Amino acid sequence: MQNIQKVVIPVAGHGTRSLPASKNVPKEMLPIYNKPVIHYVVDEAVNAGIKNVVFVTSKEKTALEDYFDHHYALEDVLERTGKKELLRTVQELADMVDVISVRQKCQLGFGHAVLCAKSVVGSEPFAVMVGDDIILGEDAGLKELIDVAQRENKPVVGVMEVDPSVVHKYGIVAGTPRPDGIIEITDMVEKPKAEEAPSNLAIIGRYVLPPEIFSYLENAKPGHGGEIQLTDALSRLAKDRGMLAVPVKGRRFDAGDLLDFLSVNMYFALQDDKMKDGMKKQLQKLLAEFE
Ligand code: G1P
Repeated sequence: MQNIQKVVIPVAGHGTRSLPASKNVPKEMLPIYNKPVIHYVVDEAVNAGIKNVVFVTSKEKTALEDYFDHHYALEDVLERTGKKELLRTVQELADMVDVISVRQKCQLGFGHAVLCAKSVVGSEPFAVMVGDDIILGEDAGLKELIDVAQRENKPVVGVMEVDPSVVHKYGIVAGTPRPDGIIEITDMVEKPKAEEAPSNLAIIGRYVLPPEIFSYLENAKPGHGGEIQLTDALSRLAKDRGMLAVPVKGRRFDAGDLLDFLSVNMYFALQDDKMKDGMKKQLQKLLAEFE
């Protein structure tokens, strides 16, 4: 498989799970610890060797493009006030990736969002990331998928085992595990009921796909929730060409889920040597109060 140069990140959604916090601020710009959610997602892409980010966006989401650009007025103030460290941090964001935005003019589903990037992606294989899923751990996430896709020249999705009680929130794969732990996919179902799920292997919003997926998406009929689902198109692609599921190492947090959102903030604070002790004390106090 050719080098993966572009990642498509659909970000046009209203972020209803994060309301009212996301009413006037894109949910991808809500801060986790000291960075917006999207920064962690783009960091993972950069770590996988990708410099071109395609945001599939809507008119309320220009803050995402601005975040990865210069902010000259701010840089000027930081320069004049001698805040060199902060200046460097802000300037580095503008050099992190090249952003291309395409509009999803009507929201017809996740698969439709990916299809909106067709003209920008062209005829190369590409990656897709769900902007809510934060995956932490050294080289965890997209890099693992790209390594396998290039070695095996097959489309790849990232999966993690989830509790059977939550399979209805995910695309679920069925397949045959190989001795190396990779799964040869035989079927995929979008958000099945627990009793109908073929396994508890959930797609975690990381994909490496060939450009052929676009014709599958163009022919896809509305699926779960009446929307054009990427999972449905992938299921057909898997049957025609084969597809692998890579169990992703690392830790996953769903930034759109309030409990996960709060937990990942704590996780970063507890990892920060300067904050760890203070955070533990605060948590102990709170726990004692709510015993
Ligand atoms: C999307 C996909 C689903 C996948 C999930 C991961 O669903 O359609 O297959 O499991 O991302 O986060 P969404 O979260 O957009 O409903």
